[in-house]
Amino acid sequence: MKRSFNMVNVLLAVTFLSHITWAVKGSSHCQQTDPWEIRPHSVSITEFGAVGDGVTLNTKAFQNAIFYLNSFTDKGGAKLFVPAGRWLTGSFDLISHLTLWLDKDAVILGSKNPDDWPVVDPLPSYGQGRELPGARHRSLIYGCNLTDVIITGDNGTIDGQGSVWWNWFQSKTLNYTRPHLVELKNSTGVVISNLNFLNSPFWTIHPVYCSRVTVHNVTILAPLDSPNTDGIDPDSSDDVCIEDCYISTGDDLISIKSGWDEYGISFARPSTNITIRRLTGHNRNGSGIAIGSEMSGGVSEVHAENLYFFNTSTAIIIKTAPGRGGYVRNIYISDVTLSDVDTAIRFNSNFSEHPDEFYDPKALPLIERITVKDVRGDNIKVAGLLNGIEGDSFRNLCLLSITLNVTSESPWNCSYIQGYSAMVSPETCEPLKESIYPTHYSDCYHLSNHLHSSAHRHLSKETMADIQC
Ligand SMILES: *[C@@H]1O[C@H](CO)[C@@H](O)[C@H](O)[C@H]1NC(C)=O
Ligand SMILES: *[C@@H]1O[C@H](CO)[C@@H](O)[C@H](O)[C@H]1NC(C)=O
Ligand SMILES: *[C@@H]1O[C@H](CO)[C@@H](O)[C@H](O)[C@H]1NC(C)=O
Ligand SMILES: *[C@@H]1O[C@H](CO)[C@@H](O)[C@H](O)[C@H]1NC(C)=O
Ligand SMILES: *[C@@H]1O[C@H](CO)[C@@H](O)[C@H](O)[C@H]1NC(C)=O
Ligand SMILES: *[C@@H]1O[C@H](CO)[C@@H](O)[C@H](O)[C@H]1NC(C)=O
Ligand SMILES: *[C@@H]1O[C@H](CO)[C@@H](O)[C@H](O)[C@H]1NC(C)=O
Ligand SMILES: *[C@@H]1O[C@H](CO)[C@@H](O)[C@H](O)[C@H]1NC(C)=O
Ligand SMILES: *[C@@H]1O[C@H](CO)[C@@H](O)[C@H](O)[C@H]1NC(C)=O
Ligand SMILES: *[C@@H]1O[C@H](CO)[C@@H](O)[C@H](O)[C@H]1NC(C)=O
Ligand SMILES: *[C@@H]1O[C@H](CO)[C@@H](O)[C@H](O)[C@H]1NC(C)=O
Repeated sequence: MKRSFNMVNVLLAVTFLSHITWAVKGSSHCQQTDPWEIRPHSVSITEFGAVGDGVTLNTKAFQNAIFYLNSFTDKGGAKLFVPAGRWLTGSFDLISHLTLWLDKDAVILGSKNPDDWPVVDPLPSYGQGRELPGARHRSLIYGCNLTDVIITGDNGTIDGQGSVWWNWFQSKTLNYTRPHLVELKNSTGVVISNLNFLNSPFWTIHPVYCSRVTVHNVTILAPLDSPNTDGIDPDSSDDVCIEDCYISTGDDLISIKSGWDEYGISFARPSTNITIRRLTGHNRNGSGIAIGSEMSGGVSEVHAENLYFFNTSTAIIIKTAPGRGGYVRNIYISDVTLSDVDTAIRFNSNFSEHPDEFYDPKALPLIERITVKDVRGDNIKVAGLLNGIEGDSFRNLCLLSITLNVTSESPWNCSYIQGYSAMVSPETCEPLKESIYPTHYSDCYHLSNHLHSSAHRHLSKETMADIQC
């Protein structure tokens, strides 16, 4: 393959890199409470009559156990222990200062009866269920208004048995939007670790309106052809850290969101300070890391590094559309290894699904300061499909040190975008040809910008409308 790096660029880059730190330094682990930390009180689900035979419905046992443990929330909290066994259940609610512990060979199974997944109001930042107008099913494991909640264990499994839902979706016989496997709403101090999450009916782990969320060392699996089974979807949430995960599903591995069109715009709660590290995974019909398409409350300060995606449709994507409004800014993605990927980097500005006809087609998203750096890829079909919106601003996209082994005749296809590059092979498209060095370095997003810009982010939260649980 012909290397087309300009020697001047290489020298300038080396000079700059030796003086300024691009990489996001600091702790390379999420701050987290130790999941092995002993809660002062602990009960086993078997004490509440649960039967782990995979057949008996244990919803009442989970609800009763958690109702009992509620009396310990102001006494240091409690642990609900789920031993080895197959524990069939419908949706149940978590409480603050709770550890839900799934022991080795413990499997929580989602009921296949939709009546065991109650119907609740749509999220205010979506206005509608995501798939159907009106209400939506509540997640299997649900929490709202909580602080200090831990879902962990010794490699236990939460299996949504989602195939019934995928079939209802495909046969268009759903009455309401499908449920997530785990949803935490308006909660602070959430840790999800050391477990397997399988076969979610819809998105797998969905923190929405949350702060301080850690997802660490989890495996998320769903069949490659299962519809919309995203792995982790931080939504209008801040201070989220996701690390050491393996995800293989039917849709995006991680998708960062912040509400849908006019509902997301007026709810105005962004996703910000999202860290993703050491993520491995693949899918056939989705991306490795997505932002959007619901990004109307804004997405900023996303740092992702040490990513390995294989046999994936798209590695990194920003999805948006006229009507979304909002912004995606200050995104830094580095140290990415790709094998057998259709498209390495994509801006798709034509996600034209809207909640209803009241969206404002003039509400254009602002996309700026997106840095993608240190990407190596083998057997990539297309390097970049980067299509902005005519009359809109997609600016300061910076590509640095990218080497892709591309099979397509036209590796880049760019329109309505602006940015800079250095050391990119195959050679970038025209709108990105101008070199980052020496004069455009400060137009590109990197660490020093991050520290500066996160300082003011909590201001708008004061005005947040009440969230119904
Ligand atoms: C979020 O939950 C807390 C309780 O943890 C509650 O005080 C607060 O009002 C809730 N926020 C909203 C916007 O509903
Ligand atoms: C990750 O999870 C597995 C399975 O639960 C556990 O054996 C392992 O110790 C965990 N690793 C870390 C670093 O926590
Ligand atoms: C954890 O569980 C999964 C699925 O049951 C299994 O494949 C894996 O080997 C287990 N890992 C450890 C560390 O026990
Ligand atoms: C949808 O509603 C109909 C009529 O109430 C019911 O028979 C059917 O089971 C429901 N389907 C689902 C997937 O909830
Ligand atoms: C970003 O979030 C992490 C938790 O993931 C937190 O430790 C850190 O303080 C946050 N940074 C800022 C600048 O708020
Ligand atoms: C891929 O996903 C999109 C949107 O989720 C869907 O419309 C399409 O049918 C899927 N394609 C395949 C091959 O599964
Ligand atoms: C991708 O899938 C193909 C076909 O299943 C397989 O031959 C190839 O080894 C896979 N690539 C990687 C990196 O796993
Ligand atoms: C956007 O998608 C619609 C259909 O979903 C299509 O008609 C239109 O041509 C697309 N626009 C662009 C610019 O690709
Ligand atoms: C990609 O690189 C591999 C070696 O890493 C080489 O064998 C292969 O021919 C290259 N393919 C293309 C299309 O350049
Ligand atoms: C870029 O993509 C557009 C839309 O898919 C297509 O019409 C156009 O021909 C492509 N341009 C190049 C140079 O490949
Ligand atoms: C959550 O907090 C909001 C706002 O204070 C309140 O309206 C709602 O009832 C609370 N829900 C629960 C279950 O505590």
